Amino acid sequence: MNYQWYPGHMTKARRQMQEDIKLIDLIIEIVDARVPLSSRNPDIDVLGQNKSRLILMNKSDLSDPVCNNEWIEYFKDKGITALLVNCKSGNGVKGIRAAIMEVCKEKIERDRKRGIKNRPIRAMVVGIPNVGKSTFINSFAGKASAKTGNKPGVTKGKQWIKIDKSIELLDTPGILWPKFEDNTIGMRLAFIGSINDEILIPEELATDFIVYMKDLYPDAVKEGYGLPQDTPYDYHCLEAIASARNLLMPGAKPDIVKAAKVLMDDYRAGRLGKISLENVRGV
Ligand code: G4P
Repeated sequence: MNYQWYPGHMTKARRQMQEDIKLIDLIIEIVDARVPLSSRNPDIDVLGQNKSRLILMNKSDLSDPVCNNEWIEYFKDKGITALLVNCKSGNGVKGIRAAIMEVCKEKIERDRKRGIKNRPIRAMVVGIPNVGKSTFINSFAGKASAKTGNKPGVTKGKQWIKIDKSIELLDTPGILWPKFEDNTIGMRLAFIGSINDEILIPEELATDFIVYMKDLYPDAVKEGYGLPQDTPYDYHCLEAIASARNLLMPGAKPDIVKAAKVLMDDYRAGRLGKISLENVRGV
C-alpha cells in the first residue's frame, strides 16, 4: 500500500513554531520509542539550532528494551540527551527535571556570569501528532502547576506553565509533521496508529504488518494468536487469526477486516509484546 500522505496545514504550524522557538531556551522533542527516527522530523535540527535539546522516547512501555538502550546510545553519539519515558503511567517523568538542568547548564552558567539570577528555563514541547505531547505536559506539569502569563482573550501573550521556580513550559506544543521520505517511514507510522486509519485499507495495512514482522519478530503474531508454526506471513495469516478468534461472517467465512483491526489494535496496545519497528542498524 502507498503510505505517502501530506497534511495541508503544515506550513502554518511550521511558521507558528518558528515564532515560538524565539521565546525559549530548550526544545523537548517527543518521539515514539517504537520508531524513534520515523517519528521525528529532522527539520527540528535546523529550527532548533542554538537551543538546548532533549529527546523523550515516549511510550517506552510498548517498545523493545534492547532497542531502547541502543537508541539512547545512538542519540548520545549525536550529542543529544535522550530519556526513556512512559508519560501515561508517569514512569521516567521524575528524571526529566535533572536532565533539563544538565542540558541547559551552559545557559544557567551564562546567566550567572551576567549576574542574572532566578531566570527560569523556558521550554517548548514539539513532536508529530499522537506521540504523547499533551500527555507529557499533563504528567510533567502535574496538579501543582500554575499557569502564568497573560490571560487569553485579553492580550495575545503566551501561556506558560510554571513547573517550579526554575522551569516554565509553553502550554501549547509545537506540531511537527512526519517526513515521508520513503514509503517505509509512512508504513511504520501507520502501524503505530499515527496515520488516520480511515484513509488506509485495514486488511492491506495488517498484511503489510505481518510481512514486516517476519524478519523482526517472526514469532510475535503466531504466538499472540496461537497459530500453527507453518502459517504463512501473508494474507492467509489474517484468515488464521480470524479462525483463531472466531471472527466469522455469515457462512462461517473468516472476517478478514475484523481480524485486521484486531491485529493492529493488539499490536498498538502492546498485547503482542514489546515490539520496536526500527533499530539502530537501519531496519
Ligand atoms: P499528542 O498530544 O502528541 O497528539 O498525543 P496525546 O498526548 O494525545 O497522546 C496520544 C495517545 O497516546 C493517547 O492515547 C495517550 O494516552 C497515549 N499515550 C501517551 N503517552 C503514552 C505512553 O507513554 N504509553 C502509552 N502506552 N500510551 C501513551 P489515546 O488512545 O488517544 O487516549 P487514551 O485512550 O489513552 O485516553
